[in-house]
Amino acid sequence: MKLILLGAPGAGKGTQAKMLAKKYDIPHISTGDIFRANIKNETELGKEAKGYMDQGLLVPDELVVALVADRLQEDDAQEGFILDGFPRTIPQAQHLDKTLDEMGTKIDHVIDVDCPDANIVKRLSGRRACIKCGATYHTEHLKPKVEGICDVCGSELVLRDDDKPETVIKRLQVYHEQTQPLIEYYKDKNVLVSVDGKLPIEDTFEIIVDILGDR
Ligand code: AP5
Repeated sequence: MKLILLGAPGAGKGTQAKMLAKKYDIPHISTGDIFRANIKNETELGKEAKGYMDQGLLVPDELVVALVADRLQEDDAQEGFILDGFPRTIPQAQHLDKTLDEMGTKIDHVIDVDCPDANIVKRLSGRRACIKCGATYHTEHLKPKVEGICDVCGSELVLRDDDKPETVIKRLQVYHEQTQPLIEYYKDKNVLVSVDGKLPIEDTFEIIVDILGDR
């Protein structure tokens, strides 16, 4: 199964992607996670990406597309994958189409996790992320067993730099300008389904699984 999760920042893409990756046993490929790992490891890519991410802007297409094309060639992605946070612009989507075409395959489903801006600022101010493994929690909707500590690896949970309200507002603006047009792009290809991202996490998950089926 080759799947894209679309949606605004904070709509719940990452949360659903982790659950779907486990259910269908396919890799969860998050460009945001790849950039954060590069920032943590102080790579050149990480240093360049951080400047854009901290301002709530997109990292330039040319830095993203090659990275995803390479990741899709890896063995674990041959039977399927979940793309979370990619593509985010029309040129990225066109590049992805070309890459998959060269690999003799295509996207099966695009799930648009739909959540209004009003819910998002509140959601992201309550998100806490693990500084070590990247697992995410929420102060109200998805609490860790011990406050401030990651259930998975026991490290500290922090507010992401780009989850401060002023940066979230900028990220939402960028989403509406540059990413939302992808909804029409994938509707035209007859692969897009929108799901309600305002529902509780498990309810949204069940709706997506109903759409995708058991395989
Ligand atoms: P990225 O990491 O992809 O961030 P994003 O798209 O802004 O998405 P988020 O991770 O903020 O939100 P999400 O939808 O995954 O929500 P989550 O499930 O965590 O990208 C970060 C930056 O990297 C970008 O701004 C950009 O600079 C750069 N970048 C990345 N990819 C790029 C690309 N392709 N091109 C260019 N630049 C790129 O949920 C949020 C919170 O809500 C959590 O606390 C969660 O527990 C909670 N929650 C989730 N679902 C529910 C629910 N149903 N009800 C209540 N709470 C919920």
